[in-house]
Amino acid sequence: LSSTEVDLSAIQPGQSVKATFRKQPLFVRNLTPQEIAAADATPLSELRDPQTLAERTKEGKANWLVTLGVCTHLGCVPLGAGEGENKGAFGGYFCPCHGSAYDTAGRIRSGPAPTNLAVPDYEFTSDTTILVG
Ligand code: FES
Repeated sequence: LSSTEVDLSAIQPGQSVKATFRKQPLFVRNLTPQEIAAADATPLSELRDPQTLAERTKEGKANWLVTLGVCTHLGCVPLGAGEGENKGAFGGYFCPCHGSAYDTAGRIRSGPAPTNLAVPDYEFTSDTTILVG
């Protein structure tokens, strides 16, 4: 199976870009300090699929949120990656198909999706490059 390299250098804080990984949408997001704080301030008891932001990011790289852009309900592509798209009520991603809202850590917060957006296997190959898969 193939890997995908993503150049992070042009992704500004607060920006999320869409790439492709094994024919699926991949979201790569540069979280702002406020978005990190919002994720860290959320009690795990409020989460349907409890995971901390730290568990979903690499050590020392908490601002880089890498997830599949595939809603865990029925597989639509959520909005929130790209220009001016709807980030939903929890500031992360919003799936327009049946209204699932994900937070700034890509965790499911409302709507029918059962689990958080999946984090694929990846590694940093430099400060500004990741290799996914
Ligand atoms: Fe996303 Fe149903 S596919 S809410």
